[in-house]
Amino acid sequence: MSMRYFYLLLLVGLLTGCTENKTEKKLDGEALLEQKCSKCHNLDMPPKSYDDEVAPSMMAVTFHLKDFIKANDPSAHEAKIAEFVEDYVIDPSRSKSFCDKASLDSYGVMPSQKGKVTVDELGAIAKYMYDTYDNQKMLKIMQEQQRLARMPLYQRVLEQQRCENCHDVNKDKVAPSFISISKKYSSTKPLIESIKNGSKGKWKNFKLIMPPFKKMTDKDIEGMAKWILELKNKDKTKGQK
Ligand code: HEC
Ligand code: HEC
Repeated sequence: MSMRYFYLLLLVGLLTGCTENKTEKKLDGEALLEQKCSKCHNLDMPPKSYDDEVAPSMMAVTFHLKDFIKANDPSAHEAKIAEFVEDYVIDPSRSKSFCDKASLDSYGVMPSQKGKVTVDELGAIAKYMYDTYDNQKMLKIMQEQQRLARMPLYQRVLEQQRCENCHDVNKDKVAPSFISISKKYSSTKPLIESIKNGSKGKWKNFKLIMPPFKKMTDKDIEGMAKWILELKNKDKTKGQK
Protein backbone atom coordinates (compact mmCIF):
# COMPACT_ATOMS: atom_id res chain seq x y z
CA MET A 1 0.00 0.00 0.00
CA SER A 2 1.41 3.38 -0.93
CA MET A 3 1.96 5.93 1.78
CA ARG A 4 -0.42 8.28 0.05
CA TYR A 5 -3.22 5.73 -0.01
CA PHE A 6 -2.60 5.03 3.66
CA TYR A 7 -3.02 8.68 4.58
CA LEU A 8 -6.15 8.91 2.49
CA LEU A 9 -7.65 5.97 4.36
CA LEU A 10 -6.66 7.49 7.65
CA LEU A 11 -8.28 10.77 6.69
CA VAL A 12 -11.50 9.08 5.59
CA GLY A 13 -11.49 7.14 8.85
CA LEU A 14 -11.11 10.31 10.87
CA LEU A 15 -13.83 12.12 8.98
CA THR A 16 -16.39 9.36 9.22
CA GLY A 17 -15.38 8.91 12.84
CA CYS A 18 -16.27 12.52 13.41
CA THR A 19 -19.64 12.47 11.71
CA GLU A 20 -20.52 9.27 13.49
CA ASN A 21 -19.84 10.90 16.81
CA LYS A 22 -22.01 13.82 15.90
CA THR A 23 -25.09 11.82 14.98
CA GLU A 24 -24.61 9.54 17.95
CA LYS A 25 -24.53 12.44 20.39
CA LYS A 26 -27.66 12.06 22.50
CA LEU A 27 -30.02 14.94 23.07
CA ASP A 28 -30.35 15.72 26.76
CA GLY A 29 -34.06 15.35 27.52
CA GLU A 30 -33.73 16.74 31.02
CA ALA A 31 -31.98 19.93 29.91
CA LEU A 32 -34.39 20.39 27.01
CA LEU A 33 -37.43 19.97 29.26
CA GLU A 34 -36.00 22.60 31.57
CA GLN A 35 -35.23 25.01 28.70
CA LYS A 36 -38.39 24.57 26.64
CA CYS A 37 -41.18 23.60 28.99
CA SER A 38 -40.45 24.74 32.56
CA LYS A 39 -41.70 28.27 31.89
CA CYS A 40 -45.23 26.87 32.16
CA HIS A 41 -44.95 23.32 33.54
CA ASN A 42 -43.57 22.69 37.03
CA LEU A 43 -40.96 19.90 36.75
CA ASP A 44 -40.68 18.78 40.38
CA MET A 45 -41.92 15.36 41.47
CA PRO A 46 -44.03 16.01 43.41
CA PRO A 47 -44.42 19.80 42.90
CA LYS A 48 -43.57 21.74 46.05
CA SER A 49 -46.54 24.02 45.49
CA TYR A 50 -49.57 24.20 43.26
CA ASP A 51 -49.96 27.97 43.61
CA ASP A 52 -49.85 30.20 40.53
CA GLU A 53 -50.02 27.27 38.13
CA VAL A 54 -50.33 28.30 34.48
CA ALA A 55 -50.24 24.68 33.31
CA PRO A 56 -50.52 21.24 34.90
CA SER A 57 -47.22 19.98 36.35
CA MET A 58 -45.12 17.69 34.12
CA MET A 59 -45.73 14.95 36.63
CA ALA A 60 -49.50 15.37 36.24
CA VAL A 61 -49.20 15.58 32.44
CA THR A 62 -47.10 12.40 32.25
CA PHE A 63 -49.26 10.38 34.65
CA HIS A 64 -52.25 11.52 32.63
CA LEU A 65 -50.73 10.40 29.34
CA LYS A 66 -49.64 7.07 30.81
CA ASP A 67 -53.20 6.57 32.03
CA PHE A 68 -55.13 7.62 28.94
CA ILE A 69 -52.90 6.36 26.14
CA LYS A 70 -53.33 2.61 25.97
CA ALA A 71 -51.12 -0.02 24.38
CA ASN A 72 -51.48 -3.77 24.66
CA ASP A 73 -47.76 -4.24 24.37
CA PRO A 74 -45.94 -2.39 27.17
CA SER A 75 -42.95 -1.71 24.93
CA ALA A 76 -45.22 0.16 22.52
CA HIS A 77 -46.64 2.31 25.32
CA GLU A 78 -43.63 4.60 25.53
CA ALA A 79 -43.50 5.07 21.75
CA LYS A 80 -47.22 5.93 21.60
CA ILE A 81 -46.82 8.52 24.32
CA ALA A 82 -43.79 10.02 22.58
CA GLU A 83 -45.84 10.21 19.39
CA PHE A 84 -48.59 12.11 21.22
CA VAL A 85 -46.11 14.56 22.79
CA GLU A 86 -44.36 15.17 19.46
CA ASP A 87 -47.70 16.00 17.86
CA TYR A 88 -49.41 17.85 20.71
CA VAL A 89 -46.63 20.31 21.47
CA ILE A 90 -46.50 21.46 17.83
CA ASP A 91 -50.22 21.23 17.12
CA PRO A 92 -52.23 21.35 20.36
CA SER A 93 -56.01 21.53 20.42
CA ARG A 94 -58.89 21.30 22.81
CA SER A 95 -60.11 18.10 21.24
CA LYS A 96 -56.73 16.33 21.43
CA SER A 97 -55.99 17.31 25.01
CA PHE A 98 -56.60 14.71 27.70
CA CYS A 99 -57.13 17.49 30.22
CA ASP A 100 -60.62 17.60 31.69
CA LYS A 101 -62.93 20.41 30.63
CA ALA A 102 -62.61 22.38 33.86
CA SER A 103 -58.80 22.39 33.71
CA LEU A 104 -58.83 23.35 30.04
CA ASP A 105 -61.16 26.25 30.88
CA SER A 106 -58.89 27.48 33.63
CA TYR A 107 -55.50 26.95 31.89
CA GLY A 108 -56.56 27.50 28.31
CA VAL A 109 -55.21 25.26 25.53
CA MET A 110 -51.42 25.09 25.42
CA PRO A 111 -50.00 27.55 22.87
CA SER A 112 -48.22 25.74 19.99
CA GLN A 113 -44.44 25.54 20.49
CA LYS A 114 -43.84 25.24 16.75
CA GLY A 115 -40.44 26.73 15.85
CA LYS A 116 -39.30 26.62 19.48
CA VAL A 117 -38.62 22.90 19.70
CA THR A 118 -37.82 20.23 17.08
CA VAL A 119 -39.40 16.78 16.75
CA ASP A 120 -36.07 15.17 17.70
CA GLU A 121 -35.88 17.31 20.80
CA LEU A 122 -39.44 16.36 21.68
CA GLY A 123 -38.47 12.69 21.32
CA ALA A 124 -35.73 13.17 23.90
CA ILE A 125 -38.07 15.16 26.15
CA ALA A 126 -40.79 12.49 25.92
CA LYS A 127 -38.29 9.75 26.82
CA TYR A 128 -37.09 11.70 29.82
CA MET A 129 -40.70 12.37 30.91
CA TYR A 130 -41.59 8.69 30.58
CA ASP A 131 -38.60 7.51 32.61
CA THR A 132 -38.71 10.21 35.28
CA TYR A 133 -42.38 10.62 36.14
CA ASP A 134 -42.88 7.07 37.22
CA ASN A 135 -45.32 5.77 39.82
CA GLN A 136 -42.76 3.61 41.60
CA LYS A 137 -40.24 6.45 41.74
CA MET A 138 -42.93 8.80 43.04
CA LEU A 139 -43.86 6.29 45.74
CA LYS A 140 -40.23 6.01 46.86
CA ILE A 141 -39.81 9.79 46.94
CA MET A 142 -42.95 10.19 49.05
CA GLN A 143 -41.89 7.44 51.43
CA GLU A 144 -38.48 9.11 51.79
CA GLN A 145 -40.14 12.49 52.41
CA GLN A 146 -42.35 10.93 55.08
CA ARG A 147 -39.38 9.21 56.71
CA LEU A 148 -37.49 12.52 56.88
CA ALA A 149 -40.58 14.40 58.10
CA ARG A 150 -40.97 11.97 61.01
CA MET A 151 -37.39 12.51 62.21
CA PRO A 152 -36.47 15.11 64.83
CA LEU A 153 -34.93 18.16 63.12
CA TYR A 154 -31.39 17.59 64.40
CA GLN A 155 -31.34 13.98 63.29
CA ARG A 156 -32.58 14.84 59.80
CA VAL A 157 -30.04 17.64 59.42
CA LEU A 158 -27.19 15.42 60.64
CA GLU A 159 -28.14 12.92 57.97
CA GLN A 160 -28.84 15.31 55.12
CA GLN A 161 -25.85 17.60 55.67
CA ARG A 162 -23.43 14.93 56.91
CA CYS A 163 -22.26 17.04 59.86
CA GLU A 164 -20.98 13.83 61.42
CA ASN A 165 -18.32 13.46 58.74
CA CYS A 166 -16.44 15.99 60.86
CA HIS A 167 -18.31 16.32 64.17
CA ASP A 168 -19.23 13.88 66.89
CA VAL A 169 -21.62 14.86 69.67
CA ASN A 170 -19.33 13.95 72.56
CA LYS A 171 -15.82 13.50 71.17
CA ASP A 172 -13.54 15.80 69.22
CA LYS A 173 -12.84 14.51 65.71
CA VAL A 174 -11.45 16.68 62.90
CA ALA A 175 -13.90 19.24 64.28
CA PRO A 176 -14.79 20.16 67.87
CA SER A 177 -17.49 18.00 69.51
CA PHE A 178 -20.95 19.52 69.59
CA ILE A 179 -20.90 19.32 73.39
CA SER A 180 -17.75 21.45 73.61
CA ILE A 181 -19.26 23.95 71.19
CA SER A 182 -22.34 24.02 73.41
CA LYS A 183 -20.24 24.77 76.48
CA LYS A 184 -18.37 27.62 74.80
CA TYR A 185 -21.45 29.66 73.88
CA SER A 186 -24.49 31.11 75.63
CA SER A 187 -26.53 32.19 72.62
CA THR A 188 -27.37 30.64 69.24
CA LYS A 189 -26.30 33.74 67.32
CA PRO A 190 -22.62 32.85 66.69
CA LEU A 191 -23.58 29.24 65.91
CA ILE A 192 -26.09 30.36 63.32
CA GLU A 193 -23.44 32.65 61.80
CA SER A 194 -20.89 29.84 61.59
CA ILE A 195 -23.24 27.28 60.06
CA LYS A 196 -24.45 29.80 57.50
CA ASN A 197 -21.10 31.32 56.56
CA GLY A 198 -18.58 28.70 57.64
CA SER A 199 -15.97 29.01 60.35
CA LYS A 200 -12.22 28.97 60.66
CA GLY A 201 -9.66 29.87 63.28
CA LYS A 202 -12.09 29.99 66.20
CA TRP A 203 -10.95 26.63 67.55
CA LYS A 204 -7.20 26.59 68.16
CA ASN A 205 -6.63 22.85 67.93
CA PHE A 206 -8.50 22.40 64.67
CA LYS A 207 -6.75 23.14 61.42
CA LEU A 208 -9.73 22.33 59.23
CA ILE A 209 -12.12 24.94 57.89
CA MET A 210 -15.84 24.49 58.33
CA PRO A 211 -17.57 25.09 54.97
CA PRO A 212 -20.61 27.37 54.73
CA PHE A 213 -23.95 25.55 54.47
CA LYS A 214 -25.57 27.89 51.99
CA LYS A 215 -28.35 25.54 50.96
CA MET A 216 -29.73 24.90 54.45
CA THR A 217 -32.98 26.70 55.26
CA ASP A 218 -32.95 29.31 58.03
CA LYS A 219 -35.33 27.11 59.98
CA ASP A 220 -32.92 24.15 59.84
CA ILE A 221 -29.92 26.33 60.74
CA GLU A 222 -31.72 27.89 63.72
CA GLY A 223 -33.03 24.51 64.87
CA MET A 224 -29.55 23.00 64.66
CA ALA A 225 -27.94 25.90 66.55
CA LYS A 226 -30.57 25.55 69.28
CA TRP A 227 -30.07 21.78 69.52
CA ILE A 228 -26.28 22.17 69.81
CA LEU A 229 -26.54 24.97 72.39
CA GLU A 230 -28.88 22.94 74.58
CA LEU A 231 -26.63 19.87 74.64
CA LYS A 232 -24.83 21.10 77.77
CA ASN A 233 -28.09 21.00 79.74
CA LYS A 234 -28.81 17.45 78.61
CA ASP A 235 -25.23 16.49 79.41
CA LYS A 236 -25.76 17.32 83.11
CA THR A 237 -28.54 14.77 83.32
CA LYS A 238 -26.55 12.31 81.17
CA GLY A 239 -29.24 12.40 78.48
CA GLN A 240 -28.65 10.81 75.12
CA LYS A 241 -27.50 12.82 72.07
C1 HEC B 1 -46.65 28.78 27.33
C2 HEC B 1 -46.91 27.74 28.30
C3 HEC B 1 -46.53 26.31 27.94
C4 HEC B 1 -45.32 25.84 27.48
C5 HEC B 1 -44.06 26.63 27.15
C6 HEC B 1 -45.47 24.41 27.36
N1 HEC B 1 -46.73 24.03 27.73
FE1 HEC B 1 -47.48 22.14 27.68
N2 HEC B 1 -49.31 22.81 28.30
C7 HEC B 1 -49.57 24.12 28.67
C8 HEC B 1 -50.92 24.19 29.16
C9 HEC B 1 -51.63 25.43 29.65
C10 HEC B 1 -51.46 22.86 29.09
C11 HEC B 1 -52.85 22.39 29.55
C12 HEC B 1 -53.90 22.58 28.52
C13 HEC B 1 -53.77 21.62 27.40
O1 HEC B 1 -53.87 20.39 27.63
O2 HEC B 1 -53.54 22.09 26.28
C14 HEC B 1 -50.40 22.05 28.52
C15 HEC B 1 -50.55 20.70 28.21
C16 HEC B 1 -49.55 19.89 27.73
C17 HEC B 1 -49.72 18.51 27.34
C18 HEC B 1 -51.04 17.76 27.25
C19 HEC B 1 -51.49 17.19 28.57
C20 HEC B 1 -52.78 16.40 28.45
O3 HEC B 1 -53.22 15.91 29.50
O4 HEC B 1 -53.35 16.26 27.38
C21 HEC B 1 -48.48 18.05 26.97
C22 HEC B 1 -48.13 16.64 26.49
C23 HEC B 1 -47.55 19.14 27.15
N3 HEC B 1 -48.23 20.24 27.60
C24 HEC B 1 -46.21 19.04 26.93
C25 HEC B 1 -45.35 20.14 26.88
C26 HEC B 1 -43.95 20.05 26.56
C27 HEC B 1 -43.20 18.75 26.29
C28 HEC B 1 -43.46 21.32 26.57
C29 HEC B 1 -42.04 21.77 26.25
C30 HEC B 1 -41.55 21.39 24.94
C31 HEC B 1 -44.55 22.20 26.89
N4 HEC B 1 -45.68 21.45 27.10
C32 HEC B 1 -44.45 23.58 26.94
C33 HEC B 1 -48.72 25.19 28.58
C34 HEC B 1 -47.41 25.16 28.10
C1 HEC C 1 -15.89 19.36 56.59
C2 HEC C 1 -15.96 19.24 58.03
C3 HEC C 1 -17.17 19.84 58.72
C4 HEC C 1 -18.49 19.59 58.49
C5 HEC C 1 -19.11 18.69 57.43
C6 HEC C 1 -19.22 20.35 59.47
N1 HEC C 1 -18.38 21.05 60.27
FE1 HEC C 1 -18.87 22.25 61.82
N2 HEC C 1 -16.92 22.68 62.13
C7 HEC C 1 -15.86 22.14 61.44
C8 HEC C 1 -14.61 22.69 61.95
C9 HEC C 1 -13.22 22.33 61.48
C10 HEC C 1 -14.97 23.61 62.95
C11 HEC C 1 -14.02 24.51 63.74
C12 HEC C 1 -13.81 25.76 62.89
C13 HEC C 1 -13.01 26.84 63.58
O1 HEC C 1 -11.96 26.56 64.11
O2 HEC C 1 -13.50 28.01 63.51
C14 HEC C 1 -16.41 23.58 63.04
C15 HEC C 1 -17.16 24.35 63.90
C16 HEC C 1 -18.53 24.31 64.04
C17 HEC C 1 -19.31 25.12 64.95
C18 HEC C 1 -18.74 26.17 65.91
C19 HEC C 1 -18.36 27.44 65.19
C20 HEC C 1 -18.03 28.56 66.09
O3 HEC C 1 -18.50 29.67 65.80
O4 HEC C 1 -17.32 28.35 67.09
C21 HEC C 1 -20.61 24.78 64.78
C22 HEC C 1 -21.82 25.36 65.49
C23 HEC C 1 -20.66 23.74 63.77
N3 HEC C 1 -19.39 23.48 63.34
C24 HEC C 1 -21.82 23.12 63.35
C25 HEC C 1 -21.88 22.24 62.28
C26 HEC C 1 -23.10 21.70 61.76
C27 HEC C 1 -24.48 21.93 62.31
C28 HEC C 1 -22.76 20.94 60.69
C29 HEC C 1 -23.68 20.22 59.73
C30 HEC C 1 -24.73 21.06 59.18
C31 HEC C 1 -21.32 21.01 60.55
N4 HEC C 1 -20.83 21.79 61.53
C32 HEC C 1 -20.61 20.35 59.56
C33 HEC C 1 -15.93 21.22 60.42
C34 HEC C 1 -17.10 20.74 59.86
